[in-house]
Amino acid sequence: MNGPLEGRTALIVGANGGIGRAIARALDTAGARLVLAARDTERLDRLAAELKASGIPSRTVGLEVTDDDALAAVVEGAAAEGMDIAVNNAGATHRPAPLGELSAADADRVLTVTLRGTLVAMQHELAALRDGGSIVNVVSTAGLAGAPGMAAYVAAKHGVVGLTRTAALDYADRGIRVNAVAPGSIDSGGIAAQPDEIKQQIGSFAPLARLGGPEEVAAAVLWLASPAASYTTGTILTVDGGKGARGA
Ligand SMILES: NC(=O)c1ccc[n+]([C@@H]2O[C@H](COP(=O)([O-])OP(=O)(O)OC[C@H]3O[C@@H](n4cnc5c(N)ncnc54)[C@H](OP(=O)(O)O)[C@@H]3O)[C@@H](O)[C@H]2O)c1
Repeated sequence: MNGPLEGRTALIVGANGGIGRAIARALDTAGARLVLAARDTERLDRLAAELKASGIPSRTVGLEVTDDDALAAVVEGAAAEGMDIAVNNAGATHRPAPLGELSAADADRVLTVTLRGTLVAMQHELAALRDGGSIVNVVSTAGLAGAPGMAAYVAAKHGVVGLTRTAALDYADRGIRVNAVAPGSIDSGGIAAQPDEIKQQIGSFAPLARLGGPEEVAAAVLWLASPAASYTTGTILTVDGGKGARGA
């Protein structure tokens, strides 16, 4: 099978969960050799067992993104034989609350996992990637506009948007492309856990009048990571059922 990522090695940070697993499946189908990282290694191993398309077994590794040394070791391990693609999908959220009522513990956790974790991961990835490599961050439409009650998550995702754009400028001279996918409301994570009528209601806010599927986010990640996007860097690609088209 000749996929667009044949012969490439990709690290996925946060490869569990609906979106992370869909990204792993998409990159595997495209022929990439995968290193899958997240905290729950049993779940990662189950995923790796079903990924066969590339013909090369996926490697799994336990990772807590708030542990700088662990992050360094995971990226170094993934890059031992050269690394072409890094996807940063790990993220944490908090219960909705107006900023003044958000607990410091919740704010710290979300900023540390989602923003600082991505920043440190990118530092190691940028050092380890082959010239011509690519980073894709999974942000959110909450990284592009405010969202009531979600101040720390919004701040963290805006931060990752800033990291994406700035690293794209800093590393263009090595041919490293840095982009992000900004999902809207996707049937994964906290939304997937909601009752059907709530999911339907959340989906109805989008012009396409439904939730997005994790595989629809993964398709955008795959495109940005692939040679088809060779002239695209510093871009935030929304996958939001058209919500962003409404503007302010
Ligand atoms: N669902 C949506 O509607 C939506 C919308 C916009 C953006 N997003 C973003 O998409 C990404 C995936 O979200 P999801 O909905 O699929 O949520 P999810 O199921 O909760 O996935 C979160 C992923 O991050 C990993 N993770 C969380 N904390 C970690 C930590 N401290 N260290 C290492 N890995 C960690 C999880 O694996 P382990 O638990 O095994 O560590 C999992 O792979 C997130 O960045 C999220 O912000 C989601």
